[in-house]
Amino acid sequence: MGLNLPPIESRADEEAPVVPARTNPGAAPLRASSGDIAILERQPGMRSDERRRLWRRAFDAVRGETERRAAPLAPEDQVIQSMPDASPTKWHRAHTTWFFEQFLLAPGLADYRVFDERFAFLFNSYYVAAGPRHERPKRGLITRPSADEVTAYRAHVDAAVARLLAIASDATLDDILPILELGLHHEQQHQELILTDILHAFAHNPTAPGYDAQWSWPASPAEAEGSVAIEGGIYTIGNDGNSFMFDNEGPAHDVLLQPVRLARNLVTNAEWLEFMADGGYDTATLWLSDGWNIVQAEGWAAPGYWQQIDGVWFAMTLGGLRPVDPSAPVCHVSYYEADAFARWAGRHLPSEAEWEVAARTGELGDAFGIVWQWTRSAYAPYPGYRATKDALGEYNGKFMVNQMVLRGSSLATPAGHARVSYRNFFYPPHRWQFSGLRLADYE
Ligand SMILES: [Fe+2]
Repeated sequence: MGLNLPPIESRADEEAPVVPARTNPGAAPLRASSGDIAILERQPGMRSDERRRLWRRAFDAVRGETERRAAPLAPEDQVIQSMPDASPTKWHRAHTTWFFEQFLLAPGLADYRVFDERFAFLFNSYYVAAGPRHERPKRGLITRPSADEVTAYRAHVDAAVARLLAIASDATLDDILPILELGLHHEQQHQELILTDILHAFAHNPTAPGYDAQWSWPASPAEAEGSVAIEGGIYTIGNDGNSFMFDNEGPAHDVLLQPVRLARNLVTNAEWLEFMADGGYDTATLWLSDGWNIVQAEGWAAPGYWQQIDGVWFAMTLGGLRPVDPSAPVCHVSYYEADAFARWAGRHLPSEAEWEVAARTGELGDAFGIVWQWTRSAYAPYPGYRATKDALGEYNGKFMVNQMVLRGSSLATPAGHARVSYRNFFYPPHRWQFSGLRLADYE
């Protein structure tokens, strides 16, 4: 399943090659089997029964992937919330189900029976227009419904969606498939969070449990060295809407870039160890003021999940506590750390536009499937962006302040979910995601 890479429009270099980037290399244990759900809606002339069959298959595959990711976790694992930003696995499983119930079934299936009237309060995340909701930091206090009851909730909603897909008129289908599609991409986002959030919880367990004892870092491709040179000029970035996109990826628009070179490689643990050995975490002049405050307050001296045992650095991973591999990309660093590292290296973080233009050449190594890459771009609306006025307009638009954009995808991103226009975003101190960086240079 490939990424959807619309052709680049480069007025500076009309001949720029477009080569699909790799997706989730070596991430087989976490790979989804969902197929590319993004293309299903946009196949004109498809027979009605075939269309319904393909969407049903995509729905079953995505829902099944969530359960597959939750399967290694005991009921006790599924309840824990290790910090306000991380949610329990059980909550992710229920919230993604509520999303279909709230936005697809309630308005779309006339005789739909809500599974449990109380669940909307428990499993609405942040949709103010959809009604009151439980406090986010207290999700870990909800032992009931049990994990088994959430399984029954999922089955109830799955059956109703299957029935809706079977009986809806063709005209209704046109209306509901975009919501179904959004619900599937939404669930894939939560599939990634299931892994990042349980890793955070397990990292607080002195026995350092492994989510998957067989887990290993995704393999990097054959050495990609040097950098990708982007000529100065006007380029088009953003998603043109010919494939599925979250609303924050558009409108596609022109940007003016200065000449820039982006490293083909991600920054590695070996390079990060040099930064540490050179006093990176002890040198105030390398840090943004807010970042330095956190270094001081939290005692940061290494990336998230790192600990030194008898002089050897270990990191908590999905496979448990493992020695830090110098050749692997650095992971679990915050924006503040990425920014300080770039300054120490005498280089820069790329902007998100520079990242996207470089990624569209297909020449960036590890653009997808290893670690999200911090950019120096603030998460803000693209020119002309407007969130819709309904509840789903709350999906992205209201978060467009105080966060920084990350590009690419990570080893936890489900296959078929990554694309070159994708904008991820987190707050500058956050480092529980699989977040790393690549560097940029200017002439
Ligand atoms: Fe959500």
